[in-house]
Amino acid sequence: MTEQFRIDVEHGLASQPKTLPSKYFYDEIGDDLFVKIMHMPEYYLTRAELEIFQHQTDRIISSLEQKSDTYFELIELGAGDGTKTKKLLSRLLEKGFDFDYLPVDISQHALDNLNESLSKELPALQVRTQQGDYFEILESLKESRNPKVVLFLGSNIGNLSDEKASEFIYRLGSNLQANDMLFLGVDLIKSEDIVLPAYNDKQGITRDFNLNLLTRINNELGGNFDLNGFVHAPEYSETEGIARSFIESTKDQVVTLGCDGPTFAFEKGEKIHTEISRKYNDEVLKSIIKHTDFKIQAKLMDSQSFFADYVLKRT
Ligand code: AVI
Repeated sequence: MTEQFRIDVEHGLASQPKTLPSKYFYDEIGDDLFVKIMHMPEYYLTRAELEIFQHQTDRIISSLEQKSDTYFELIELGAGDGTKTKKLLSRLLEKGFDFDYLPVDISQHALDNLNESLSKELPALQVRTQQGDYFEILESLKESRNPKVVLFLGSNIGNLSDEKASEFIYRLGSNLQANDMLFLGVDLIKSEDIVLPAYNDKQGITRDFNLNLLTRINNELGGNFDLNGFVHAPEYSETEGIARSFIESTKDQVVTLGCDGPTFAFEKGEKIHTEISRKYNDEVLKSIIKHTDFKIQAKLMDSQSFFADYVLKRT
C-alpha cells in the first residue's frame, strides 16, 4: 500500500499540472472527516438522498422490478453506515420480499459495524457481508445466477471522470445478467451558490479533508509539506457540472519526500488537483452509459431536485 501510495504521489507531483488521487483521502482521519462532511449543513447530498429513501420507499421498491416471491440478492457497493439503505431494507422485510443483503466494502471494520447495527435494528434480515474489491466480489457472485440489484449510492460515481465512470458501469454490467438492476445515486447539476459551499464549508471540515492528503504524505512518505503554506481551493463550473478540489501553494516553495527523496518545486498560486465531483443530468448519464449494457428505467428525485437515484436495467 505505502509503495503504491509513494508511486502515485511521486507521479502526481511530477505531473504538470500537479495532481494527487482522491482515493488517498480515506485513511482513518479522512474517514472520520468524511462522516463530519455528511452531517454539515452545506453538504446537501446525503440529506437529499436520505429524503428519497425515507419518503419514496415504495416507489424505490416498485422501480427495482423484483417479484416478492422470487429470491434476489441486494448488493450494496461501499455500504458505509447504511443509514439510507436501512429504510429500504426494513420496508422490503415488511412487504415480505425474499432477499439477502450483501454489503460490499474494502474495510472489514466498516462491515463489522454495519453488521452489528443491522442485527440489532433488523434482526430478521439475512446479511452476507463481502469484504474486498467490488469487481472481484461481483465476479464471485455471478456464478449463482440469482437475480441481482446493485446499489451504488451517495454520488460516489461522481468522483470518477466520465471515461472512468463509463468503464466502471460497463464492468458492472459484464458481471450481471439481463434484467439485473443498478440503482445509481448521483448529485444533479445545479447553481454554484448551492454546490460550491458543499465543498467549501464555513467550519473548514472539507479543507481539513483535502489537506489531510499532505499530512498523510508527511507521515507516511517522510514529506515536509508546510501545512501553513497551502490552502484548500475548490472550484465549480455549472456549465460543465463539475466541482474540482485543489490545494494551492501560497508561496514559492520546495517540498521533499524523505532525506534523499525527490523534490517538487511550487510557485505561488500553483495548484494540486485532488478531486473531481461530477454532477449529473439525463444527458450526462445517457452519454456515460451509451456504450454499456444498461438503459435508464426510472429516476427518483428529492423534493428540491438536488439529487437523483437512477434505476438502470441491464439489457
Ligand atoms: C464521496 N464523494 C461522493 C464525496 C463528493 O461529494 O464528491 C467526497 C467529498 N469530497 C469533498 N466533500 C465530499
